[in-house]
Amino acid sequence: MLNSIVRATSFVHHVLKGKINKNDVVIDATMGNGNDTVFLAELVGPGGSVFAFDIQQIAVDRTLKKLVDNGLDDHNIRLINDGHENIESYSTGAIDAAMFNLGYLPQGDRSIITKPGSTIKGIKSVLKLLKPGGIISIIMYYGHEGGMDEKQQVSDFVKGLPNKDFVVMNCYYANQGNNPPIIIFIEKMKKDSCFQSECYKNNGF
Ligand SMILES: C[S@@+](CC[C@H](N)C(=O)[O-])C[C@H]1O[C@@H](n2cnc3c(N)ncnc32)[C@H](O)[C@@H]1O
Repeated sequence: MLNSIVRATSFVHHVLKGKINKNDVVIDATMGNGNDTVFLAELVGPGGSVFAFDIQQIAVDRTLKKLVDNGLDDHNIRLINDGHENIESYSTGAIDAAMFNLGYLPQGDRSIITKPGSTIKGIKSVLKLLKPGGIISIIMYYGHEGGMDEKQQVSDFVKGLPNKDFVVMNCYYANQGNNPPIIIFIEKMKKDSCFQSECYKNNGF
């Protein structure tokens, strides 16, 4: 149940809960304080796998503590102190879902931020690894220095994805100030699926 859309993360978790199943293989591309890693670990359960990435050791340490505190440290979770631009160097195999949460580490060094080049490389890798029907979420926080550039480049990149292969949904807060977060979902189309307007056309609507 979704209680509120006030927090972008609540909405993203709500959507992903409907897509991620026990035993799935998933990626947290920006581990940070470990909230999404814990969320993913609970969803996939002990039979699933979570690969979590962050360039900061402090993020890995905080995430490990959070996993221990939640009794999840015996699950199949790899905390990787490396950038998501290197995802393809790790043997994840095909994945069911991935999460990106862009910006800086809350309660951390605000000068260490996700950057457009590495973020887009990470998204491209994840889209390659994604199973048909799989989904990725991206929350863009962009109020900090450098954030606008990343927001623009990531938005342009996702808009350009071929619509026969991917459905891209862009959600934004229409009436909030102070650079409210933007949420993007990308789902990889299954072979036999078509976007609704195409289906209507084919079915003679
Ligand atoms: C907004 S925080 C993520 C919050 C996190 N999802 C959570 O649940 O707490 C963004 C994180 O991205 C990390 N980051 C920056 N560049 C990165 C990169 N190239 N690869 C992976 N993580 C990166 C930062 O160190 C920071 O911890």
